[in-house]
Amino acid sequence: MKIKRILKGVLKLTSVVILLALFVGIIALFIAYWRSTNDCDKAIPSNPMKAIVYCDYGLANLKLKEIEKPTPNDDQILVKVHAASVNPYDWHFVEGTPKIMRLMGVGLRKPKDTRLGVDFAGTVEAVGKSVTQFKPGDDVFGGKGGAFAEYVCRRAEGAVALKPANITFQQAASVNIAGITALQALRDKGNVQPRQKVLINGASGGVGTFAVQIAKSFGAEVTGVCSTRNVDLVRSLGADHVIDYTKEDFAKDERRYDVILDNVPNHSLSECRRILNPNGKYVMIGGGGPNDSRWIGPFGRVINTMLLSPFVSQKMGMMMADTSQKDLTILGDLIQSGKVKPVIDRTYKLSEVPAAIAYLEEGHARGKVIITME
Ligand SMILES: NC(=O)c1ccc[n+]([C@@H]2O[C@H](COP(=O)([O-])OP(=O)(O)OC[C@H]3O[C@@H](n4cnc5c(N)ncnc54)[C@H](OP(=O)(O)O)[C@@H]3O)[C@@H](O)[C@H]2O)c1
Repeated sequence: MKIKRILKGVLKLTSVVILLALFVGIIALFIAYWRSTNDCDKAIPSNPMKAIVYCDYGLANLKLKEIEKPTPNDDQILVKVHAASVNPYDWHFVEGTPKIMRLMGVGLRKPKDTRLGVDFAGTVEAVGKSVTQFKPGDDVFGGKGGAFAEYVCRRAEGAVALKPANITFQQAASVNIAGITALQALRDKGNVQPRQKVLINGASGGVGTFAVQIAKSFGAEVTGVCSTRNVDLVRSLGADHVIDYTKEDFAKDERRYDVILDNVPNHSLSECRRILNPNGKYVMIGGGGPNDSRWIGPFGRVINTMLLSPFVSQKMGMMMADTSQKDLTILGDLIQSGKVKPVIDRTYKLSEVPAAIAYLEEGHARGKVIITME
């Protein structure tokens, strides 16, 4: 009887502690939400440049504003941006979705970082005193947060490399995220070897158009999946087979693959496994489109993929691109040699970034969407 009473007491106390912790947690979250702010109230710039700024989440809150032009630190270069490119990454930040991102430090009520854009190409205007690999006048391309702007400062040893001479600034601006994602997915996650069969789902978008060409440069037999209007484009990039998803479902096909690169995870993992060879690799790249869960986006599928992988013969996993100077240089060489050619869909002005992001959000870009500086 006594033990029963003690147990009941402990249970009551535990419930009270849990409820209290929950209450404190909710209050803390509420305070953090209302205190969440950003640098939008900064003073008028003394040395201005134009940039896209968003003080609140939502496409309607994107504004072309004058902000302070950056000055390079000792290890940085100042680049006059000629072109930038848009990625699905940008609309995730504009919308603050999946909303779990906001809890992970992106900003609960307002975006913490008010600048947008990553991929850029331009000309070096000034260098910090410890920079040796670049000089003023060099044409470069790479990645840096806040690339929808007239200037960016970037660490010279980070994701920036000399622009291949045989492409325009607009083409060079398209490379960073999409090209590096395709390269790392095929080389590091897919470990693609000559004559292997590679399926690229979503072959006509930013990542897909790079992936088809890079997989061909590795000597693979490439199958690209796209809609009718993009069949000729994907074939022209070198794909050996093209599946028009409006007419044929690749998951119901008899063909088997060594590697699947999935930019559009619209088939179940078991469907993907069925068309993979026993030692094949499934590399999940995309997910979290506008029609996915606005709270967790692709994370549910990522967890399922990770949980499944140890129990099946095939390797299943998600990849996250890690931009670097080394891989930009490799891509630059592939472009210079003519093995890879960036595909440009549409070009917008800096003031038209909201329209460019809205277009990309529709999910049917053909290659890359570019921003040019007025
Ligand atoms: N993990 C990473 O590090 C990483 C890096 C970059 C991007 N991503 C993600 O990868 C995905 C692709 O990025 P992206 O830059 O290539 O996007 P994107 O340029 O917007 O690509 C859209 C492409 O998807 C195709 N598509 C749409 N529905 C399709 C379907 N049912 N079947 C096959 N293709 C379909 C479209 O072709 P049609 O017009 O022919 O339908 C279009 O060409 C996004 O989800 C992005 O968030 C991930």
